Amino acid sequence: MNKVLEHIGLCGLVPVIKIDSPEKAVPLGEALLQGGLPVAEVTFRTDAAEESIRRLSSDLPKLLVGAGTVLSVEQVKKAVGAGAAFIVSPGFNPEVVDYCIEHEIPITPGVNSPSQIEMGLERGVSILKFFPAEASGGVAMIKALSGPYKGVKFIPTGGVNAENFNSYLSLPSVHACGGSWMVKSDLLAAGAFTEIAKLVQQTVLSMLNFSLAHIGINEISEEKALKEASTFEQMFHFPVKNGNSSIFSGTSFEFMKEPYLGEKGHIAISTNFIERAIAYLERQGIHTLPETAKRKDGKLKAIYLDKKISGFALHLVEK
Ligand code: 3PG
Repeated sequence: MNKVLEHIGLCGLVPVIKIDSPEKAVPLGEALLQGGLPVAEVTFRTDAAEESIRRLSSDLPKLLVGAGTVLSVEQVKKAVGAGAAFIVSPGFNPEVVDYCIEHEIPITPGVNSPSQIEMGLERGVSILKFFPAEASGGVAMIKALSGPYKGVKFIPTGGVNAENFNSYLSLPSVHACGGSWMVKSDLLAAGAFTEIAKLVQQTVLSMLNFSLAHIGINEISEEKALKEASTFEQMFHFPVKNGNSSIFSGTSFEFMKEPYLGEKGHIAISTNFIERAIAYLERQGIHTLPETAKRKDGKLKAIYLDKKISGFALHLVEK
């Protein structure tokens, strides 16, 4: 997959921005980065779009900046000239799409019907904006479209909001969700960048949904692990479940049959999206230990982090 589109998928969310003044572009970009979202779609709905894209892409190299509401080849040229790394259009304009393909500019054209999806597939474009998402049938429509179009990924946008974005993201065919709810125009008009950063962070955390999965405790032998798990069962009725390398006590405690990573053991943190969580932590300088990766059907399910807390190693696990 193209690196730009891959980055969008790992962000999981694309803030759709209608900016009224280029002066606000960089503070807004900083708020997005602070909130944990290094991507922005600046829409060509205002005269400030082109200059805003220019400032964002030159001043904030960590932010991936794209142009939205692109309706003509002319606008593609302006956007790319200003530094836009990707193009989003509300509909499927063959002229715009073909120009982007020819010039190797990542584009996610808008579709909401089988025929439009096939126009994309014909051209090798399989990551498509699904617009207007809610008005076009929402989650149910994407599920229906995913039947015949297996490899297609959608970026639902239009009516997506804080309440419904997670139900879209839970679909395997959803690449990311787009929308203006994270950067509300009134907050942007008022220059309320702290508020915007907070809203963005809330959304990112609601997507990742970090919580405690279990605590793993290192024991020196299987016998000792079983003894401790049995004590928990007696005291609290947490059922003992004997596995290959550990014994679970209910779902919250895991007694290791021999010491594994971490002086005392490990803490497992669950998340809705392990790959997105890894990207989020990488941006904070926290890396993973690739040799500890556990996969199911080729999909990453758990991995340790190169980070310890109070003698406990840490690992992520996907819910
Ligand atoms: C777009 O340009 O993609 C949409 O207008 C964004 O839709 P929303 O404002 O409903 O999020």
